[in-house]
Amino acid sequence: METKIDEIAAGIYRLSTFVPEIAPPAGFTFNQFLVLGDEPLLFHTGYRRMFPLVRAALARLVPPERLRWITFGHYEADECGAMNEWLAAAPQAEVAHGETGCLVSLNDMADRTPRILADGEVIDIGGGKRVRYLDTPHIPHGWDAGVLYEEATGTLLCGDLFTHVGDGPALTEADVVGPAIAAEDLFQFSSLHPGMGAAIRRLATLGPRRLALMHGSSFAGDGAAALSALADDYDRRVRAAFS
Ligand SMILES: [Fe+2]
Ligand SMILES: [Fe+2]
Repeated sequence: METKIDEIAAGIYRLSTFVPEIAPPAGFTFNQFLVLGDEPLLFHTGYRRMFPLVRAALARLVPPERLRWITFGHYEADECGAMNEWLAAAPQAEVAHGETGCLVSLNDMADRTPRILADGEVIDIGGGKRVRYLDTPHIPHGWDAGVLYEEATGTLLCGDLFTHVGDGPALTEADVVGPAIAAEDLFQFSSLHPGMGAAIRRLATLGPRRLALMHGSSFAGDGAAALSALADDYDRRVRAAFS
């Protein structure tokens, strides 16, 4: 396995590891995002067992001990399995996540006390980068789920939203909604609930120019339109489930 590095927006790097054995024949990617600034921020730690690989990739961009923020979308192994390895590697680093995740899991599971982020709270990480935390409970899954939005580049760090299979380009202007709908049909990974469409449309109001996806290619283009189309599809699924 190798971890590929691509800059998907100014100062935001995608570290991507392709695992062909998952969802064959297409395979599946696990992507972490490094946002560079005076206080470098990592979104998704990667699996604990992938830590040596991801650490080596990150080290090509910034000394790992300089990492200041360890963030992720929700408490699961691919999102935060290596959280404590990163805390050990970076003595100044703090795990930062929403209140639910900190109270439910991280206060116990993280080796250092996590920093609770309020819904809408912004961390200024320097170098012109401002990262806003947004609570998205149960979207696409996980009570503690949330996303980050980097305001300077208009990059929405989407976590598992728009998950799709395959090892496509790091950044695409092609449709990411169709592949996400296909992956939902395949994995049924989302917690369908009546508030989903509205919550995803709230993210669309940010008007993102980049969608940084944990699984699949990142997207450059009209992020609001893509989010609205995804919200419509979840509304359709919820209606079908209740009919
Ligand atoms: Fe997940
Ligand atoms: Fe994931």
